[in-house]
This record gives sequence, structure tokens and C-alpha cells, in this order.
Amino acid sequence: MTRITIFRHFLTFLQISFIFAITVLTYNHFMMSHESPHRATHFSKNLDINKSQCNSWESHKKWKSLNFTIKKTTKLFLSLEDFFWKQPMSQLHLPYGPRGSELMILKVLAATASYEMPAHIENLECKTCVVVGNSFAIKNTSLGNLINKYDVVMWLNDAPVRGYEQDVGNKTTMRIFYPESATSNPALNNEEDTLMVLVPFKPNDLRWLKEILYDEKRDRRGFWRPPPLTWEVNSSNVRVLDPFFMYETGNQLVKNQKSFRPTTGFLAVFVALNYCDVVHLAGFGYPSKSNPQQLIHYFGRNTMNHMKSSPHDIDREGKVLKKLEDLGA
Ligand SMILES: *[C@@H]1O[C@H](CO)[C@@H](O)[C@H](O)[C@H]1NC(C)=O
Ligand SMILES: *[C@@H]1O[C@H](CO)[C@@H](O)[C@H](O)[C@H]1NC(C)=O
Ligand SMILES: *[C@@H]1O[C@H](CO)[C@@H](O)[C@H](O)[C@H]1NC(C)=O
Ligand SMILES: *[C@@H]1O[C@H](CO)[C@@H](O)[C@H](O)[C@H]1NC(C)=O
Ligand SMILES: *[C@@H]1O[C@H](CO)[C@@H](O)[C@H](O)[C@H]1NC(C)=O
Repeated sequence: MTRITIFRHFLTFLQISFIFAITVLTYNHFMMSHESPHRATHFSKNLDINKSQCNSWESHKKWKSLNFTIKKTTKLFLSLEDFFWKQPMSQLHLPYGPRGSELMILKVLAATASYEMPAHIENLECKTCVVVGNSFAIKNTSLGNLINKYDVVMWLNDAPVRGYEQDVGNKTTMRIFYPESATSNPALNNEEDTLMVLVPFKPNDLRWLKEILYDEKRDRRGFWRPPPLTWEVNSSNVRVLDPFFMYETGNQLVKNQKSFRPTTGFLAVFVALNYCDVVHLAGFGYPSKSNPQQLIHYFGRNTMNHMKSSPHDIDREGKVLKKLEDLGA
């Protein structure tokens, strides 16, 4: 992409209402290695959350643009009753459906106390949400105070909070993760009541959670990276994401390439679009592939080199996100 094109993108952003300014960070995909992140800082000072975006016209547009199944608008997590009273369950296996893992799920759910969002969020007439991505682009943006103002702040995997509050804030309503991305001491980077939302990619992920919740002997086999053997979490904060969302998210991506799995970030965006009235993204986007030494995350040392053998299709995800924004989602 030439500098001119990049600049044109940038100008377009200036014209977009301030509401979308936070999403500018999404476009570091284009801008990252060329533009200073401090420009984003400049935008963010004028940002605020405007609840008038909650009106039904916006929501309606959102649904239309997504071609999303609306029947489960706000129920995000699996619950025991799904397995007893519900119409026939999905016939798909993990990660797209519970088939073949029903018993494991029942055991996990029997050990967690709640299957809902907290009432103080659930009862809001208009829910504003921000998904905090792990992108390097959020560095030095000072978005922390703004992020803290959303009703729901969604976190991904093991993204740290401590030491980065200035840029990412310290409100952690929920954290979406899988065993390989869990940390043994979640208290370090989460609040006491942060919902810990497991994304079950494979039956072993549920087994890991069951062994933790029941304090059974841990079986370390069947993971692509050793998950923590201890996980100090209050079981009433544990939730299991309904595989329905992985199915729907996958649908947006795999039309041509079946072998790619959505990233947790992309999944979280779809969860948020399903649950929230206003959805903003902060810290999204991968850097340009042209510089393999470029750091990917706002923490740690991973570079673009690490993405080479990735099972994700980040180009396609970027395009879908762009399209969603264009459509007004
Ligand atoms: C919120 O946005 C609406 C239109 O989107 C605008 O009319 C209103 O003035 C905004 N409110 C604030 C406080 O910025
Ligand atoms: C939704 O479906 C319409 C027509 O089938 C299509 O043109 C549009 O691109 C789809 N939107 C998304 C976000 O896939
Ligand atoms: C962030 O700011 C610090 C201190 O001003 C500076 O050393 C660092 O290079 C900046 N990082 C980025 C990505 O701009
Ligand atoms: C977040 O930071 C603010 C200001 O520094 C502080 O008052 C608050 O207690 C912090 N919240 C959490 C959950 O750490
Ligand atoms: C676990 O969380 C629940 C609900 O938030 C709370 O009532 C309970 O006291 C917590 N238990 C412990 C051991 O912290």
C-alpha cells in the first residue's frame, strides 16, 4: 500500500464522526508503521460514549448488516437448562456445537453458580461495550480512562492490565480465554468479579476446566501449549461461551477457507455485537507484514514472525471488520 493511499485512508477517518474515532485504532493495519500513534491520542481526547447511539435504528442496522441470527440476542453463556428443556441441540461438534461434549459441559456447569451476565449490566437499557484488543497500536494512546467508562469492557486471553492502565484502563468486566491462554493467577490482571469466559475449542478445554473446578488430577495431554495446572478463580465467576457464537463467527470467515479459525478478538467482536447496543473496539489490528520484527502486542515480545504459521486468517478478519464499520455496525 502506497503512502498516498494510506494518507487518503487517514483523511477519511478525519471525516468520520468522533464516535468512530476509537475505531481508528483498528486501522493501524494500514497506518501503523507509517503514522505516529500519537495522532490517535489526539483523537481520543475528544471521544466520549454517547448513549444516543442506543436508538433502535442503529441497532436495527447493526443486525441487518451482520446477517446474524437474532433469536439469542443476549444469552451468551451455556446454562444447565439448555441441556434439559431446550429444543434439539446443535448437531455440531466443538468448537461450533456441544455435540459429544454434553456430559463434560453438564459437569462444568454443575460446578458454576450462574450462567448470566451480572444483573447490574443485564438490566441496563442500553449497554455500551468496548473490546480491548491486544494490538501494539494501543501503546501510548492514553485510552485507559475512556475504556473504563464503558458498561462492559471485554478482554482477550492473557492480556495484562497492571502496568498498562494508562493505555488500557483497569476495568475488566469479562475476559474471554481458552486453557492455553489462561494464567494461573487471574487475580493479578482482573477484578474480583471479572467473568472468566471459557471458549471451548475442543473437548480437552472443558476437561481442563472440570479438573480445576473439581480439583481432580490434571491431565496435561491434548493441548498445544501447557495450560496452567492451578487456576485461582471464584467458580461463580466462571462461564462457558455458547459455541453458537463460534459457529456464527466462523460463518463470517470460512466461506472460502475452511481451515482458518477465528481469533479470540474477532470472536469477541461478534459476541459484543450480539449483546451490546454500542460496540467500540480499541487496540485492534495487526501491523504490516512487511516488517517481521514489528511487535504485535502492547505487551511481551511477539513479532510478526510469530504469525507465520498461524491458523488465523488475519487479512480476512481485517476486511470483515472494515466492512462491518462501513455498514454502521
Ligand atoms: C450524541 O449523538 C447524537 C447523534 O448521534 C447527537 O445529536 C448528540 O448531540 C450527541 N450527544 C452528545 C452529548 O454528544
Ligand atoms: C449479508 O447478506 C447480504 C445478501 O445476502 C450480503 O450482500 C452482505 O454482504 C452480507 N453481509 C455480511 C456482513 O456478510
Ligand atoms: C511510548 O512512549 C514512550 C515514552 O514516551 C516511548 O519511549 C515509546 O517509544 C513510545 N512507544 C510508542 C510505540 O510510541
Ligand atoms: C482503577 O484505577 C482507579 C484509579 O487509579 C482506582 O481508583 C480503582 O480502584 C482501580 N480499579 C481497579 C479495579 O483496580
Ligand atoms: C465468589 O463470588 C460470589 C459472587 O460474586 C461471592 O458471593 C462469593 O463471596 C465469592 N467467594 C469467594 C470465596 O470469594
